Amino acid sequence: MTDTFRFPENFLWGGATAANQYEGGGMEGGKGLSICDVLTGGSKTRSRQMTWINRTTGETGYTALRPRTSLVLPENAEPAVLDNEYYPSLKGVDFYHHYKEDIALAAEMGFKAFRMSVNWARIFPQGDEEEPNEEGLQFYDSVFDELKKYDIEPLVTMCHYEMPLALTLRYGGWSDRRVVGFFERYAKVLFTRYQHKVKYWLTFNEIDNIANFPLICAGVPEYSPQAIAQAAHHMFVASAKTVKLKNEINPDMMVGQMLAYMPVYGYSCNPKDQLLAMERERDALFFSDVQVGGFYPAYKLKEYERNGVVLETEEEDFELIRKYPCEFIGFSCYKSMCVSSEEPEKRNLKNPYLKESEWGWTIDPDCLRLTLNELYDRYHKPLWIVENGLGAEDTVVDGKIHDDYRIDYLRDSVKSIAQAINLDGVEVIGLTVWGWIDIISAGTGEMKKRYGLVYVDMDDEGRGSLKRIRKDSFWWYQKVIRSHGTEL
Ligand code: BG6
Repeated sequence: MTDTFRFPENFLWGGATAANQYEGGGMEGGKGLSICDVLTGGSKTRSRQMTWINRTTGETGYTALRPRTSLVLPENAEPAVLDNEYYPSLKGVDFYHHYKEDIALAAEMGFKAFRMSVNWARIFPQGDEEEPNEEGLQFYDSVFDELKKYDIEPLVTMCHYEMPLALTLRYGGWSDRRVVGFFERYAKVLFTRYQHKVKYWLTFNEIDNIANFPLICAGVPEYSPQAIAQAAHHMFVASAKTVKLKNEINPDMMVGQMLAYMPVYGYSCNPKDQLLAMERERDALFFSDVQVGGFYPAYKLKEYERNGVVLETEEEDFELIRKYPCEFIGFSCYKSMCVSSEEPEKRNLKNPYLKESEWGWTIDPDCLRLTLNELYDRYHKPLWIVENGLGAEDTVVDGKIHDDYRIDYLRDSVKSIAQAINLDGVEVIGLTVWGWIDIISAGTGEMKKRYGLVYVDMDDEGRGSLKRIRKDSFWWYQKVIRSHGTEL
């Protein structure tokens, strides 16, 4: 094998999950409701819906959750869990009761790292209490101890597309400055309790997606440039305060940023297409410029000026942001986008050079090498691909799942990462393949959009034995890890 495919000895191979899609036990252990707990499943063509009840009349109903749209519930309606409705996040695939079995499977594959998230509402059920929920803390103690048994390094997201529902209802989520304080308290509890069990932390999953889904990313029901900018600012301040807190409690830990990144290609060599692509990439890069670079970039300040956005800030904010940037960058990268100045309103055009998944996501392994270079050149900080993978429908034949399509996708991804390391010199900490075990899809709430190397017997309505079955990709990834990426 040539040097092109050599991975560092200490490269952290592993898999990724998130509590709201994986953990389940949604009403157990003193946990409060999270935003996603009151969302139904959707499909490729149908949005997920928030269910609600009118406390005065008892009327119940559904409101669709659409990207770049405010969530407006009828008057007097409150989000609620309804009888006879299935809520994918409440059940996940029941890691809550299967964590020992699942971690043993991860260890069998040879995982060095295990990305998961702590469910904020399991620690602070309402979000604004003074004291944490001890039962929730004990659950994660057990999980981290189990990982330790196999020498697997946890990578923990503190807020992965969920926050206590009460914070949205009482404060409008991150648009309220008080949420910074609640998050600080939460971070302090996590760092104090787990400082000797968890080294790597991520603050907010895909923070840049706030511009598409302010409710899911930041608990903000209103979709407006002002509301989004203000909430993002509060998250930036919280991120800086989290890094500061970590330094005070135990500087051996590391706090990373988590960005959803997709390279954006101009459709043609028309310079206007390239300018549009540059602007679209900034939609994501703005977040790392602040959280990692430590400053508000000029292009964003100009955009705010044009849109009449005025931030409410406190004197210390910008100094905090400058002094306490994130120490590494975790990012998700699944696909690339394509834009044309002739149709600027279209956020993504079909790229004639690329195939697409069944869910219409481009299959573009080069997007990893491009992203790794873009982010490394810009910030010179270590990078971690914390999500990458292929969502596809699997078929079980005689108790086996032959998922060559997934192996092909992941093989090309690993090659692209190897090129960034060996040809370009990018510093990469690890790769955690998304949904290494089948979990609920974040976008559609479906189960049939599977990313796993391990199959979970459950359907879109939550029916099934929950049995875990190793797919062909399980054995493939085991071989890749054992050979340090030289046997692909
Ligand atoms: C990322 C999220 O956007 O993509 C995950 O961080 C999500 O939570 C993943 O599951 C894949 O998206 P989807 O919609 O296919 O689950």
